[in-house]
Amino acid sequence: MCGIIGIASNKPVSINIINSLKKLEYRGYDSAGLATLTENKINEKKCSGRVDDLEKILFKTPSNGNLGIGHVRWATHGVPNLVNAHPHSSEQVSVVHNGIIENSDEIKKDLESNGLKFKSQTDTEVITILITEALKENKPLESVFKTLQKLKGSFALGIIFKNFSNIIIGARRGSPLAVGYAKEENYIGSDSYALKSMTNKISYLDDGELCVLTKDQVSFYDQGLKKINKKIYTMSDNDAVVDKGEYKHFMLKEIYEQPTTVKNAINEYIDSLKKDINIYNFPIEPNQINKIVLIGCGTAYNSCLTAKYWFEELTSIEIDVDIASEFRYRKLKFNTKNLYVFVSQSGETADTAAALDLCKKNNVKSCSIVNVVESTIARNSDWVLPIHAGTEIGVASTKAFLGQLTVLYILCLKIANLRKDISQNIYEKSIKNLKNLPEAIKKSIDTETKVQLMAKEFIEANGSMFLGRGFSFPIALEGALKLKELSYLHAEGYPAGEMKHGPLALIEEGLPVIVLAPKDKYFEKTLSNMQEVIARGGKILFITDNKKESLNENIRFGLRVPHLDNFLSPILLTIPLQMLAYHVALLKNCDVDKPRNLAKSVTVE
Ligand code: F6R
Repeated sequence: MCGIIGIASNKPVSINIINSLKKLEYRGYDSAGLATLTENKINEKKCSGRVDDLEKILFKTPSNGNLGIGHVRWATHGVPNLVNAHPHSSEQVSVVHNGIIENSDEIKKDLESNGLKFKSQTDTEVITILITEALKENKPLESVFKTLQKLKGSFALGIIFKNFSNIIIGARRGSPLAVGYAKEENYIGSDSYALKSMTNKISYLDDGELCVLTKDQVSFYDQGLKKINKKIYTMSDNDAVVDKGEYKHFMLKEIYEQPTTVKNAINEYIDSLKKDINIYNFPIEPNQINKIVLIGCGTAYNSCLTAKYWFEELTSIEIDVDIASEFRYRKLKFNTKNLYVFVSQSGETADTAAALDLCKKNNVKSCSIVNVVESTIARNSDWVLPIHAGTEIGVASTKAFLGQLTVLYILCLKIANLRKDISQNIYEKSIKNLKNLPEAIKKSIDTETKVQLMAKEFIEANGSMFLGRGFSFPIALEGALKLKELSYLHAEGYPAGEMKHGPLALIEEGLPVIVLAPKDKYFEKTLSNMQEVIARGGKILFITDNKKESLNENIRFGLRVPHLDNFLSPILLTIPLQMLAYHVALLKNCDVDKPRNLAKSVTVE
């Protein structure tokens, strides 16, 4: 997803812009660019490849200037190429944009009918032209303000002006924008992470707000252009050091970090001495909760779906699960006794943030389960439960998924205990099992060599299927999602019992079918469903935690993960699936940490 950066300083900024753009690479992008100001001239440099390529261009032809903006672009309007890369500059102004201008075609037609010319296919260029036109009669802030009033859609913007060489204007509607402060240097950036190496003092623009920065000060304005003050947050620096260490890819490192991820969440929330869970300040008294609605996108949605099974088994509360991009447009019956839980690694996902906004507008209580505590979703919700996974760089989410599952399960146990839906004995036993989880995850990771062999079964495949029932069904979905996003191989996740209602048609000789069969109440049923697949020639790759199950000759490949209790089996089954996706992607020479068409932080709708 696009990322923006802006720096106003007392020294040349291009190197720091490049370094910050490198921090934003994790979002996924296809082109990069920057613009600096020197002697009242806008110096624009862009390329259709990576930030490294942009750096090489700068090396050959340096860009001076103590003020500048930079961008990594993830194409929405117009193909990824040099012309469509940001910034988009006129002689007077240069603009970087994250988001989508929904009425850009309309505005463009109008401007073209007045004789104005466009160079690119992007929606962003209308902003450049509108500001340039407005500058003929207005000062920069008024010009930007007037332009914003004409735009529909979402944006975070960074703008510099040829004739006002000491200011950067930032604006936000929908897409996030952070502001950073340092000595004789101020910044805007798509997230705090991009600014982290330069400052830990951060403010966040809210929707409709603008900021004007010079190297010495930052002024903020609300949507009526009234001057306002903003709170300054001091960021924690516990995840400031982010590198691959001994690992070949961030994804592999993050898979291996999972025992620690889960341990961090356990340390944060479990009181071992009292055998209790430290979760307080519920926005609704747990006994009064009528329904819990779990909302997320992609992997986060899969963790919501897993949690639904936990809450249904362990509590008396009704549970709904929704994909944020659907939730935000549905005609819902909001209820002040419902708790709306938003799950998001980044805390910046546009659809999830919009679903949360909808809840706020309807005056219902929200909880967010996020990794990035400084994020928009965390700041906008009534109650935040961080997952403490540390920075996740691999675009495909791994450790954040396990962190989300752990925190959701802990929340579920606490609510079940407070409502007396489970006995004290089961509560304490579940806490004890949880404490053994990091060790069991390590053992699950130890299956890697076997998973590597399993991965070979996918080299010639044209597709694949992941089957599970009950707690394992959402994990089948997550396994399929990981495989398709990393290896670009078609993968379907299905409840095993649903196969006979249509999907069996897809089974053909040699199709790899992953069967998740933990020793739970669905075990025998899953085996029967597996027979239906075997009968049609499917190649079975079987994953279980059942020590007693001996693998028969119809199973091409079998793998065993540790067992703690049935509630924790989804967590332990996830790990071989993450590693499978990783190794299949390696065998297919795919870019594991930056898979195609995927963004780490999806800040557009
Ligand atoms: C999959 C993946 C995406 C994200 C989704 C939501 O590996 O990373 O499906 O899970 O875009 O992102 P967050 O959790 O940041 O809201």
